[in-house]
Amino acid sequence: MAFVTKARISLILLLCLVDRNGCERTGPFNPAEALVKAKNAAAGKLGPDVKTFNVLDYGAKANGKTDSSINFIRTFKAACNFRGNAMMVIPKGDFLIGPIIFQGPCFNPSSLIIQANGIVKAQADLSYFTGGADDTDWITFQSINGLILSGTGTFHGQGAKAWKYNDCAHKSHCVRLAANFKFNKVNDAIINGINSIDPKGFHIMVTVCRNFRLLNLKLQAPGDSPNTDGIHISKSTVVKIAHCVIGTGDDCVSMIHGSIDISVNKVICGPGHGFSVGSLGHYDDEADVNKIVVTNSSLTDTTNGVRIKTYKTDSLSKASSIFFTDMIMNRVKNPIIIDQEYGNRHSTQTSKVSISDVRFVNIKGTSISKVAVQFLCSKSNPCEGIQMNNIDLQYVGPPRDQQPFESNCTNAKVSYVGLQNPPPCR
Ligand SMILES: *[C@@H]1O[C@H](CO)[C@@H](O)[C@H](O)[C@H]1NC(C)=O
Ligand SMILES: *[C@@H]1O[C@H](CO)[C@@H](O)[C@H](O)[C@H]1NC(C)=O
Repeated sequence: MAFVTKARISLILLLCLVDRNGCERTGPFNPAEALVKAKNAAAGKLGPDVKTFNVLDYGAKANGKTDSSINFIRTFKAACNFRGNAMMVIPKGDFLIGPIIFQGPCFNPSSLIIQANGIVKAQADLSYFTGGADDTDWITFQSINGLILSGTGTFHGQGAKAWKYNDCAHKSHCVRLAANFKFNKVNDAIINGINSIDPKGFHIMVTVCRNFRLLNLKLQAPGDSPNTDGIHISKSTVVKIAHCVIGTGDDCVSMIHGSIDISVNKVICGPGHGFSVGSLGHYDDEADVNKIVVTNSSLTDTTNGVRIKTYKTDSLSKASSIFFTDMIMNRVKNPIIIDQEYGNRHSTQTSKVSISDVRFVNIKGTSISKVAVQFLCSKSNPCEGIQMNNIDLQYVGPPRDQQPFESNCTNAKVSYVGLQNPPPCR
């Protein structure tokens, strides 16, 4: 009997190894259904068919002082290995954890749910994050198909003490400080409702993910905190970001190499560096960027509005089909900018990133600089197919010099439709 059971378990494991999707969630992912589930999970309204795994039952202490990393990991493992519908619960209360990895694959028949309603703080001391492959970031989710992380909880990165160790202003290949969240190879996921505060590095990093939604998030850090990007995406396909409020020290959303089919809808950004495609051309053999839509969003007191930025290097890639539509700028320094001399402006090289089919449609509001539209494209790879449609910006900076309110284009083919304020490039 024991032999039969053991044999059966090994058979299941063997099948899991043979079939790439193995024993993980089967059946198509239905985002609308998953969102309802995410909201119900946050409100504790899931049925008895979902078994709960509460971190308190695995020894986590809600006193804000005792490191509960191991208890979080044990809770996750129990939920992830459970062969029924499962929900890990981080209840109201204060928790303290160091770097942890929530490692899949999971064995639940439907998406693994994590209800996060508590306050979770990171260890402040950088010695916990030694930069090894496993503990560079704070909370890593890896190799999971089907994930719902939802709740009113707050993840506090306690970054303030770490920021002085950020040396990226001086080094181009600097050590990245811990992101609050890293999602690596996570497919069919919804992250809903949670708050992220003061990460040491990025708030949320999404890499090698497919079919990923980030909804109703609030990400906050001071405007002068270094490299605290809100949502940083690479090598991922179909990522939808909506209804988020992001105020931080770097890009609100940055989409770098391999970002394909990304949409940003109804996001409020500021302070921060705006919505960025790039930096591109930073590494060798970068994958192309394609199909980016940023829409129905606003920027307030940010250094940039909508931006594409590339390094001057020999790294070849294409960035195309990039649409910025229905945007409101409030006192933005560079509302519309393509900068192909980003990062290493003094290099004698040119950027080899080819930028094409970029549309700016219905963009209005205020600029605090006289050059509100700047296309500084590459001499070797000029920008093609830039379209400006209904641009209505006003200058609100100090009443300065004689410089007109204008657009500045270098190596860019631009076509104009409808209202243009500032006036088109000469
Ligand atoms: C932008 O908002 C409008 C009005 O709410 C909506 O109709 C449109 O679908 C939104 N755009 C996208 C791409 O979601
Ligand atoms: C336009 O951009 C070029 C290239 O950066 C620069 O040299 C020039 O001064 C700019 N013109 C204005 C009016 O800012």
